[in-house]
This record gives sequence, C-alpha cells and structure tokens, in this order.
Amino acid sequence: MDNKFRYNTSVAPSCDENSLKRAAELIKNGELVAVPTETVYGLAANALDEEAVKSIFLAKGRPQDNPLIVHVCNIEMWKELVEKIPDDALKLASAFWPGPLTIILKKSQKVPMTTTGNLDTVAVRMPCQKDTLRLIEISGLPLAAPSANISGYPSTTLAEHCLSDLGGKIPLILDGGACSVGIESTVLSLVNDPIVLRPGRISAGEISNVIGKEVKISQSVTAPLPKGEKAASPGMKYKHYSPKAKVILFEGDIYKFLNELEKAPPKTLGLVFEGEEKLTSVPCIAYGREHDAKSQSQGIFAALRLVDEKNAELVYARCPDRNDSALGVFNRMLRAAAFEVKRL
Ligand code: TXA
Ligand code: MG
Repeated sequence: MDNKFRYNTSVAPSCDENSLKRAAELIKNGELVAVPTETVYGLAANALDEEAVKSIFLAKGRPQDNPLIVHVCNIEMWKELVEKIPDDALKLASAFWPGPLTIILKKSQKVPMTTTGNLDTVAVRMPCQKDTLRLIEISGLPLAAPSANISGYPSTTLAEHCLSDLGGKIPLILDGGACSVGIESTVLSLVNDPIVLRPGRISAGEISNVIGKEVKISQSVTAPLPKGEKAASPGMKYKHYSPKAKVILFEGDIYKFLNELEKAPPKTLGLVFEGEEKLTSVPCIAYGREHDAKSQSQGIFAALRLVDEKNAELVYARCPDRNDSALGVFNRMLRAAAFEVKRL
C-alpha cells in the first residue's frame, strides 16, 4: 500500500473527552489530527516538533516555504513563541481572542524554522472552538494548523470535507460540526506598521478601532502578485480555493447575470445568492444571501466543493460586495476565479 495512505482514518466527535485524550496522545507522538475551529478545519500537529510539522506539509502537498499558523489556548503559551508582545498585539488579543484573528510577530528561538517556512516571524491565534482549545490545553502544546484541505483546494468546513481530502493520510478527524465563520482568520502583521495580509471576519476597520492606528491592507488581497515580486504572506502567491472547474466572477445586475448564464456552454453551473436559483433553468448552487457577507462566508467553501461533485466545467459566480466587512469573502471568490471578473 502507498505509504501516504497508511491510516484507517477515524472520525470522532470533538465534544467527547475520550476522543480529545486520544487526539492529545497522537499529537504528543508527532501525529496529525484534523480539528474543528470557528473558521475552517485545521490539520494540527505539535508546532515545536519539526518532524511532525514536516508531515503536515507532506499530507497537504503544501509548498515548504508557506508558513503555518500556530494555535494557542492562553497568553502564556503565546509569550513562549514570540520575542516580545507589543501593546497593540495585547489590545487586539483582549478584544478578539479567542476568535478569528491571527497576529504575526517576530518569533522566539523555540519555534522551528520549518513551522514558519524559514521566516523569522510567527503567526499565532487563539481559536474560538471550545473542544480544540481543550485539546491544546490537555496536550500542553501549541498546535501548528493550516486549513485541513489538499493544498490549492477549497478549505474544509465540515468533517466530511476533511475525510474526502485527508482520509487514509491521518489517523483522526475530530468532528465539531459546521464551522460557524466559514472562511479563514484575518491575518495581521504587526512586525512593522499594521497590515492585513489576508482578510477575514474581523475587518481592518475593526482592528484600527482597537489600536487607534491606520491599518493597511496588502495589495495582494485584491490583485494578483506582479511577476517577480516577493509575497508578504507566502500563501498569497499560490493558486487557492479552486475547484477543478474554471470560475468566472460576474459583478453587476442579477438579470444581466442570468442572461449570461442562459447563453453559457453546457456543463456550466451558476454560483448564486439564495433564492436566485429559482430564476433560471440552468443548475445553480447558492452560497449565502445577497449583501450578507456572514452567510456568504458560511457557504462559500462547501459550495466550491459541490461544484466539483456536480462535475461542472465552468462556473459563473455572482460577486460578493467589495466593502471592508465583505472583503474576506470577496478575496476568496476572487482567488477561486484566479482574479477573472467580468463587469455587467
Ligand atoms: O482560520 C485560519 O487561520 C485557519 C484555521 C485552521 O486556524 N488556518 C489557516 O491556515 O488558514 P493556512 O495555513 O491555510 O493559512 C495561513 C496563512 C497563509 O497564507 C500563510 O502564508 C500565512 O497565513 N502566514 C503564516 N505565517 C506567516 C508569517 N510568519 N508571515 C506571513 N504570512 C504568514
Ligand atoms: Mg489554507
């Protein structure tokens, strides 16, 4: 048997204390466990164990220069991972943790370079999912956890998604049900002036309100990286969130959109807002309500995965709003569409 598929992966409820104890033992032994968080499922290993971290990259097929986020259950654990926690970082942690905000600071000696993709900085967050917090507490270890999907595919927001991507490659998936946020955390660097490298549920405006400073948003959030330019966040340079089908985003009126959809080649699927499926005979999947970034975030990854299950070759997608609070879902859709937007 292929060594990569050597496990009989089990799926166990994350709320069960015995499952958590088993997960903690696996983590302490250098194994991988998929865990629920409020954003997306994570593929977790001991962040301080280089060999364990290497197996995360292998299982996901992830490029080794793409650093991992480290998950902690208290501020003491965070202190061990970084050189120093500046006041702004503490203010943000007390405003938003546990929650979907990742903060990048200079790393301490304790964090292996493998975890940070050879950077001298480390991204840390405290997830808002009580079972995973408990797992970190009982294992006593910070957990490196990228999204629990095959590199490049849409992130996983259900245990079933993890099983489909990672079944056979890891011993255990903890099932905590559907992730409540649905898109990955906001990634904020505080290494220099505050800058959002990846938008999420917590907006730049909300961060700015807490620290009383301007918060920039990286250009790579809404534009492809110019050729030859170095990405501030290595993850931003890779193709992302893509189903196998080609996705095109359409910005503008629903009726013009429906007109395009009716003229589309066979095997085209519409990715629309709730209720709009009824307006056309072309098969559609809904991914949330119009002008409601929260519901769109909750639905986007499951919808992108469903596109492949339905064997669509082309996807015409309705475009989310572009304002500050919708930037997370807009960014995910834009990347799924490899930045191809048509204005109607
Ligand atoms: O919500 C989340 O953040 C989920 C859950 C599991 O916590 N995790 C997640 O991890 O989305 P991942 O590996 O899929 O995305 C991490 C992103 C990547 O774009 C990576 O390049 C960036 O964070 N990142 C991590 N450490 C960094 C660092 N030191 N400097 C710059 N970017 C970093
Ligand atoms: Mg990811």
